[in-house]
Amino acid sequence: MALNETDTMNFTQSIWLDKNTQEVTVIDQRKLPFEETTQTLATVDDVCFAIKDMVVRGAPLIGVTAAYGLYIAAKTNFDLSLAYGALLATRPTAINLKWALDSQMNVVSSIKKEDIEQALLNNANNIRDEDINMCSQIGNHGFHLIKQIHEQTRRSVNILTHCNAGWLATVQWGTATAPIYKAHQAGIPIHIWVDETRPRNQGANLTAWELSHAGIPFHVITDNAGGHIMQHGKVDLVLVGSDRTTAAGDVCNKIGTYLKALAAYENNIPFYAALPVSTIDWSIKDGVNDIPIEERSNEEIIFMHSYSGERISKSMIMPANTPVKNYAFDVTPSRYVTGIITERGICKANEESLKKMYGR
Ligand code: MRU
Repeated sequence: MALNETDTMNFTQSIWLDKNTQEVTVIDQRKLPFEETTQTLATVDDVCFAIKDMVVRGAPLIGVTAAYGLYIAAKTNFDLSLAYGALLATRPTAINLKWALDSQMNVVSSIKKEDIEQALLNNANNIRDEDINMCSQIGNHGFHLIKQIHEQTRRSVNILTHCNAGWLATVQWGTATAPIYKAHQAGIPIHIWVDETRPRNQGANLTAWELSHAGIPFHVITDNAGGHIMQHGKVDLVLVGSDRTTAAGDVCNKIGTYLKALAAYENNIPFYAALPVSTIDWSIKDGVNDIPIEERSNEEIIFMHSYSGERISKSMIMPANTPVKNYAFDVTPSRYVTGIITERGICKANEESLKKMYGR
Protein backbone atom coordinates (compact mmCIF):
# COMPACT_ATOMS: atom_id res chain seq x y z
CA MET A 1 0.00 0.00 0.00
CA ALA A 2 1.56 3.31 -1.00
CA LEU A 3 1.70 5.96 1.70
CA ASN A 4 -0.43 8.36 -0.27
CA GLU A 5 -3.09 5.78 -1.12
CA THR A 6 -4.69 5.56 2.31
CA ASP A 7 -6.21 8.11 4.59
CA THR A 8 -5.09 6.07 7.58
CA MET A 9 -1.42 6.63 6.73
CA ASN A 10 0.20 9.43 8.63
CA PHE A 11 3.01 10.95 6.66
CA THR A 12 4.98 12.11 9.68
CA GLN A 13 4.00 9.46 12.21
CA SER A 14 5.63 6.07 12.42
CA ILE A 15 3.02 4.04 14.35
CA TRP A 16 -0.74 4.40 14.74
CA LEU A 17 -3.97 2.51 15.38
CA ASP A 18 -5.81 1.91 12.12
CA LYS A 19 -8.88 4.16 11.96
CA ASN A 20 -11.22 1.29 11.06
CA THR A 21 -9.76 -1.85 12.62
CA GLN A 22 -7.93 -0.24 15.57
CA GLU A 23 -4.99 -2.54 14.79
CA VAL A 24 -1.43 -1.40 15.47
CA THR A 25 0.03 -0.28 12.14
CA VAL A 26 3.59 0.70 11.27
CA ILE A 27 5.56 1.76 8.23
CA ASP A 28 7.81 -1.03 6.93
CA GLN A 29 11.10 0.88 7.22
CA ARG A 30 13.10 -1.92 5.61
CA LYS A 31 11.65 -0.92 2.25
CA LEU A 32 12.02 2.84 2.42
CA PRO A 33 12.64 4.93 0.40
CA PHE A 34 11.83 2.66 -2.52
CA GLU A 35 8.51 1.15 -1.41
CA GLU A 36 6.13 2.91 0.95
CA THR A 37 4.25 0.09 2.65
CA THR A 38 2.68 -0.56 6.03
CA GLN A 39 2.45 -3.63 8.27
CA THR A 40 -0.24 -4.58 10.75
CA LEU A 41 1.00 -6.05 14.02
CA ALA A 42 -1.59 -8.54 15.27
CA THR A 43 0.37 -11.02 17.40
CA VAL A 44 3.29 -10.97 19.82
CA ASP A 45 5.30 -12.78 17.15
CA ASP A 46 4.51 -10.01 14.67
CA VAL A 47 5.78 -7.41 17.12
CA CYS A 48 8.95 -9.35 17.98
CA PHE A 49 9.69 -9.87 14.29
CA ALA A 50 9.03 -6.20 13.49
CA ILE A 51 11.54 -5.03 16.10
CA LYS A 52 14.17 -7.71 15.46
CA ASP A 53 14.10 -7.47 11.67
CA MET A 54 13.93 -3.65 11.85
CA VAL A 55 10.55 -3.14 10.22
CA VAL A 56 10.52 -0.56 13.02
CA ARG A 57 13.74 0.75 14.53
CA GLY A 58 15.12 3.72 16.44
CA ALA A 59 15.22 3.59 20.24
CA PRO A 60 12.01 5.51 21.08
CA LEU A 61 9.94 3.73 18.42
CA ILE A 62 11.22 0.34 19.55
CA GLY A 63 9.92 1.20 23.04
CA VAL A 64 6.51 2.38 21.85
CA THR A 65 6.08 -0.67 19.60
CA ALA A 66 6.99 -3.01 22.45
CA ALA A 67 4.44 -1.27 24.69
CA TYR A 68 1.76 -2.06 22.10
CA GLY A 69 3.23 -5.58 21.97
CA LEU A 70 2.17 -6.17 25.58
CA TYR A 71 -1.31 -4.82 24.82
CA ILE A 72 -1.47 -7.25 21.87
CA ALA A 73 -0.36 -10.05 24.21
CA ALA A 74 -3.30 -9.32 26.54
CA LYS A 75 -5.69 -9.04 23.61
CA THR A 76 -4.62 -12.42 22.19
CA ASN A 77 -4.44 -14.19 25.59
CA PHE A 78 -0.65 -14.54 25.38
CA ASP A 79 1.11 -14.94 28.73
CA LEU A 80 2.33 -11.46 29.70
CA SER A 81 5.59 -12.47 31.33
CA LEU A 82 6.51 -14.64 28.34
CA ALA A 83 5.68 -11.73 26.05
CA TYR A 84 7.77 -9.39 28.22
CA GLY A 85 10.77 -11.74 27.92
CA ALA A 86 10.38 -12.26 24.19
CA LEU A 87 10.01 -8.53 23.48
CA LEU A 88 12.92 -7.59 25.75
CA ALA A 89 15.19 -10.03 23.89
CA THR A 90 14.53 -8.50 20.46
CA ARG A 91 17.23 -5.82 20.58
CA PRO A 92 19.76 -5.41 23.39
CA THR A 93 21.10 -1.86 23.21
CA ALA A 94 18.19 0.60 23.17
CA ILE A 95 17.10 1.02 26.81
CA ASN A 96 13.77 2.56 25.73
CA LEU A 97 12.62 -1.01 25.11
CA LYS A 98 12.95 -1.98 28.78
CA TRP A 99 11.64 1.41 29.93
CA ALA A 100 8.41 0.97 27.98
CA LEU A 101 7.94 -2.71 28.90
CA ASP A 102 8.47 -1.94 32.60
CA SER A 103 5.97 0.89 32.42
CA GLN A 104 3.40 -1.56 31.03
CA MET A 105 4.16 -4.22 33.68
CA ASN A 106 3.70 -1.60 36.43
CA VAL A 107 0.23 -0.90 35.11
CA VAL A 108 -0.66 -4.59 35.17
CA SER A 109 0.55 -5.08 38.73
CA SER A 110 -2.15 -2.87 40.22
CA ILE A 111 -5.40 -3.70 38.40
CA LYS A 112 -8.08 -6.38 38.06
CA LYS A 113 -7.60 -9.09 35.44
CA GLU A 114 -10.61 -8.03 33.34
CA ASP A 115 -9.24 -4.48 33.06
CA ILE A 116 -5.73 -5.44 31.92
CA GLU A 117 -6.23 -5.27 28.14
CA GLN A 118 -7.80 -1.80 28.19
CA ALA A 119 -5.25 -0.51 30.71
CA LEU A 120 -2.35 -1.74 28.55
CA LEU A 121 -3.86 -0.05 25.52
CA ASN A 122 -4.35 3.20 27.43
CA ASN A 123 -0.80 3.15 28.76
CA ALA A 124 0.69 2.31 25.33
CA ASN A 125 -1.25 5.28 23.91
CA ASN A 126 0.14 7.44 26.73
CA ILE A 127 3.71 6.28 26.04
CA ARG A 128 3.18 7.12 22.36
CA ASP A 129 1.75 10.58 23.14
CA GLU A 130 4.45 11.27 25.71
CA ASP A 131 7.10 10.44 23.12
CA ILE A 132 5.55 12.90 20.67
CA ASN A 133 5.50 15.57 23.34
CA MET A 134 9.07 14.92 24.54
CA CYS A 135 10.46 15.03 21.01
CA SER A 136 8.61 18.25 20.31
CA GLN A 137 10.11 19.78 23.47
CA ILE A 138 13.59 18.53 22.47
CA GLY A 139 12.96 20.38 19.21
CA ASN A 140 12.06 23.60 21.03
CA HIS A 141 15.21 23.52 23.16
CA GLY A 142 17.56 22.46 20.35
CA PHE A 143 16.06 25.12 18.08
CA HIS A 144 17.78 27.81 20.17
CA LEU A 145 21.22 26.29 19.48
CA ILE A 146 20.61 26.49 15.74
CA LYS A 147 19.16 29.99 15.99
CA GLN A 148 22.19 31.16 17.97
CA ILE A 149 24.61 29.80 15.36
CA HIS A 150 22.60 31.50 12.61
CA GLU A 151 22.65 34.81 14.47
CA GLN A 152 26.43 34.57 14.84
CA THR A 153 27.20 33.50 11.28
CA ARG A 154 24.33 35.17 9.36
CA ARG A 155 24.36 32.26 6.91
CA SER A 156 22.87 28.82 6.50
CA VAL A 157 23.66 26.55 9.47
CA ASN A 158 25.42 23.31 8.49
CA ILE A 159 24.42 20.39 10.70
CA LEU A 160 25.86 16.89 10.50
CA THR A 161 23.72 13.96 11.63
CA HIS A 162 24.31 10.23 11.81
CA CYS A 163 21.94 7.32 11.22
CA ASN A 164 18.24 8.19 11.41
CA ALA A 165 17.16 9.96 14.56
CA GLY A 166 14.13 11.35 12.78
CA TRP A 167 10.37 10.89 13.14
CA LEU A 168 10.79 7.39 11.72
CA ALA A 169 12.91 6.52 14.77
CA THR A 170 10.40 7.98 17.24
CA VAL A 171 6.66 8.56 16.79
CA GLN A 172 6.81 12.10 15.44
CA TRP A 173 9.48 14.85 15.17
CA GLY A 174 12.50 12.65 15.92
CA THR A 175 15.16 13.50 18.49
CA ALA A 176 18.13 14.91 16.54
CA THR A 177 15.82 16.04 13.74
CA ALA A 178 13.29 17.82 15.98
CA PRO A 179 15.45 20.98 16.33
CA ILE A 180 16.11 20.76 12.58
CA TYR A 181 12.37 20.64 11.75
CA LYS A 182 11.61 23.47 14.19
CA ALA A 183 14.41 25.65 12.75
CA HIS A 184 13.19 24.99 9.22
CA GLN A 185 9.62 25.86 10.22
CA ALA A 186 10.88 29.11 11.76
CA GLY A 187 12.59 30.05 8.50
CA ILE A 188 16.18 29.65 9.69
CA PRO A 189 18.29 28.58 6.71
CA ILE A 190 19.83 25.17 7.37
CA HIS A 191 21.69 22.51 5.44
CA ILE A 192 22.13 18.96 6.68
CA TRP A 193 25.05 16.60 6.09
CA VAL A 194 23.55 13.13 6.25
CA ASP A 195 25.97 10.27 7.00
CA GLU A 196 24.91 7.32 4.86
CA THR A 197 25.41 5.06 7.94
CA ARG A 198 26.63 1.68 6.79
CA PRO A 199 25.79 -1.13 6.92
CA ARG A 200 22.01 -0.57 6.87
CA ASN A 201 22.18 2.94 5.43
CA GLN A 202 19.58 4.53 7.69
CA GLY A 203 20.98 7.96 6.78
CA ALA A 204 20.86 7.46 3.02
CA ASN A 205 17.55 5.58 3.06
CA LEU A 206 15.56 7.11 5.90
CA THR A 207 16.95 10.52 6.93
CA ALA A 208 17.32 11.55 3.29
CA TRP A 209 13.72 10.44 2.63
CA GLU A 210 12.44 12.41 5.63
CA LEU A 211 14.37 15.57 4.78
CA SER A 212 13.40 15.55 1.13
CA HIS A 213 9.71 15.26 2.08
CA ALA A 214 10.18 18.17 4.48
CA GLY A 215 11.92 20.27 1.82
CA ILE A 216 15.08 20.69 3.91
CA PRO A 217 18.34 21.09 1.94
CA PHE A 218 20.79 18.22 2.54
CA HIS A 219 23.60 16.17 1.07
CA VAL A 220 24.24 12.51 1.81
CA ILE A 221 27.92 11.86 2.47
CA THR A 222 29.84 8.64 2.88
CA ASP A 223 30.53 7.69 6.47
CA ASN A 224 34.19 8.53 6.03
CA ALA A 225 33.66 12.09 4.78
CA GLY A 226 32.78 13.71 8.11
CA GLY A 227 36.34 14.45 9.22
CA HIS A 228 37.19 16.10 5.92
CA ILE A 229 34.20 18.45 5.89
CA MET A 230 34.78 19.35 9.54
CA GLN A 231 38.43 20.28 8.81
CA HIS A 232 37.22 22.57 6.03
CA GLY A 233 34.76 24.54 8.16
CA LYS A 234 31.69 23.01 6.55
CA VAL A 235 30.04 21.81 9.77
CA ASP A 236 28.68 24.15 12.48
CA LEU A 237 27.03 21.56 14.68
CA VAL A 238 26.85 17.78 15.05
CA LEU A 239 23.43 16.54 16.22
CA VAL A 240 22.81 12.86 16.92
CA GLY A 241 20.31 10.71 18.80
CA SER A 242 21.04 8.01 21.35
CA ASP A 243 19.97 4.46 22.12
CA ARG A 244 21.18 4.53 25.68
CA THR A 245 22.80 7.31 27.68
CA THR A 246 24.39 6.61 31.04
CA ALA A 247 23.78 8.56 34.24
CA ALA A 248 27.26 10.05 33.68
CA GLY A 249 26.44 11.30 30.17
CA ASP A 250 28.15 8.69 27.97
CA VAL A 251 26.16 8.44 24.75
CA CYS A 252 25.62 5.16 22.93
CA ASN A 253 24.40 5.57 19.37
CA LYS A 254 24.69 3.98 15.93
CA ILE A 255 28.13 2.66 15.06
CA GLY A 256 30.35 5.46 13.76
CA THR A 257 28.99 8.16 16.06
CA TYR A 258 32.11 8.01 18.24
CA LEU A 259 34.39 8.78 15.27
CA LYS A 260 32.25 11.82 14.42
CA ALA A 261 32.50 13.01 18.01
CA LEU A 262 36.31 12.67 17.94
CA ALA A 263 36.53 14.62 14.70
CA ALA A 264 34.17 17.29 16.06
CA TYR A 265 36.25 17.59 19.26
CA GLU A 266 39.50 17.94 17.29
CA ASN A 267 37.92 20.66 15.12
CA ASN A 268 36.17 22.57 17.94
CA ILE A 269 32.71 21.82 16.60
CA PRO A 270 29.88 21.43 19.12
CA PHE A 271 28.62 17.84 19.39
CA TYR A 272 25.14 17.43 20.94
CA ALA A 273 23.05 14.32 21.59
CA ALA A 274 19.27 14.77 21.63
CA LEU A 275 17.30 12.29 23.72
CA PRO A 276 14.22 11.87 25.91
CA VAL A 277 14.32 10.59 29.50
CA SER A 278 13.33 7.11 28.27
CA THR A 279 16.84 6.81 26.74
CA ILE A 280 18.68 7.42 30.02
CA ASP A 281 19.87 4.33 31.89
CA TRP A 282 20.24 5.68 35.43
CA SER A 283 21.59 2.32 36.61
CA ILE A 284 24.97 2.60 34.84
CA LYS A 285 27.73 5.18 34.54
CA ASP A 286 30.44 3.61 32.38
CA GLY A 287 29.02 3.40 28.89
CA VAL A 288 32.03 1.76 27.26
CA ASN A 289 32.06 -1.14 29.70
CA ASP A 290 28.43 -1.45 30.74
CA ILE A 291 26.28 -0.93 27.66
CA PRO A 292 25.62 -4.14 25.69
CA ILE A 293 26.52 -3.55 22.06
CA GLU A 294 24.27 -5.36 19.62
CA GLU A 295 26.04 -7.49 17.01
CA ARG A 296 23.88 -8.09 13.98
CA SER A 297 23.89 -10.53 11.10
CA ASN A 298 26.90 -10.82 8.78
CA GLU A 299 24.48 -10.47 5.89
CA GLU A 300 24.04 -6.76 6.59
CA ILE A 301 27.70 -6.21 5.72
CA ILE A 302 28.12 -8.77 2.95
CA PHE A 303 25.01 -7.72 0.99
CA MET A 304 23.76 -4.32 -0.15
CA HIS A 305 20.14 -3.58 -1.03
CA SER A 306 19.49 -1.80 -4.28
CA TYR A 307 16.50 -0.73 -6.32
CA SER A 308 16.17 -1.36 -10.04
CA GLY A 309 13.32 1.12 -10.51
CA GLU A 310 10.87 -1.79 -10.22
CA ARG A 311 11.97 -3.89 -7.32
CA ILE A 312 14.32 -4.04 -4.36
CA SER A 313 16.99 -6.71 -4.50
CA LYS A 314 20.16 -7.51 -2.66
CA SER A 315 23.62 -8.07 -4.07
CA MET A 316 26.84 -9.34 -2.57
CA ILE A 317 29.61 -6.79 -2.31
CA MET A 318 32.21 -9.32 -1.09
CA PRO A 319 32.60 -13.10 -1.23
CA ALA A 320 29.74 -14.90 0.55
CA ASN A 321 31.80 -16.34 3.36
CA THR A 322 34.01 -13.34 4.05
CA PRO A 323 34.62 -13.10 7.80
CA VAL A 324 32.98 -9.89 9.04
CA LYS A 325 31.99 -8.32 12.37
CA ASN A 326 28.83 -6.26 12.54
CA TYR A 327 28.81 -4.05 15.64
CA ALA A 328 25.65 -1.97 15.53
CA PHE A 329 26.46 0.72 18.12
CA ASP A 330 29.35 2.51 19.79
CA VAL A 331 29.77 4.69 22.86
CA THR A 332 30.90 8.30 22.85
CA PRO A 333 32.36 9.11 26.27
CA SER A 334 30.83 12.18 27.90
CA ARG A 335 34.04 14.23 27.57
CA TYR A 336 33.39 14.50 23.82
CA VAL A 337 29.74 15.49 24.23
CA THR A 338 29.21 19.26 24.38
CA GLY A 339 25.72 18.86 25.75
CA ILE A 340 22.57 16.78 25.94
CA ILE A 341 19.30 18.14 24.59
CA THR A 342 16.40 16.70 26.56
CA GLU A 343 12.69 17.46 26.77
CA ARG A 344 13.48 19.46 29.92
CA GLY A 345 16.23 21.61 28.42
CA ILE A 346 19.91 21.40 27.52
CA CYS A 347 22.41 20.17 30.09
CA LYS A 348 26.06 19.20 30.33
CA ALA A 349 26.94 15.56 29.72
CA ASN A 350 27.72 14.67 33.31
CA GLU A 351 25.97 13.07 36.26
CA GLU A 352 25.44 16.26 38.23
CA SER A 353 23.80 18.15 35.37
CA LEU A 354 21.66 15.23 34.24
CA LYS A 355 20.42 14.55 37.77
CA LYS A 356 19.72 18.22 38.35
CA MET A 357 17.76 18.36 35.10
CA TYR A 358 15.53 15.50 36.24
CA GLY A 359 15.37 16.43 39.92
CA ARG A 360 16.98 13.16 41.03
O1 MRU B 1 19.70 0.31 14.60
P1 MRU B 1 18.74 1.45 14.61
O2 MRU B 1 18.36 1.93 13.26
O3 MRU B 1 17.55 1.16 15.51
O4 MRU B 1 19.56 2.63 15.31
C1 MRU B 1 18.97 3.87 15.49
C2 MRU B 1 19.89 4.88 16.05
O5 MRU B 1 21.04 4.62 16.31
C3 MRU B 1 19.32 6.23 16.36
O6 MRU B 1 20.28 7.21 16.20
C4 MRU B 1 18.87 6.20 17.82
O7 MRU B 1 17.93 5.19 18.02
C5 MRU B 1 18.32 7.48 18.25
S1 MRU B 1 16.73 7.66 17.56
C6 MRU B 1 15.82 8.88 17.89
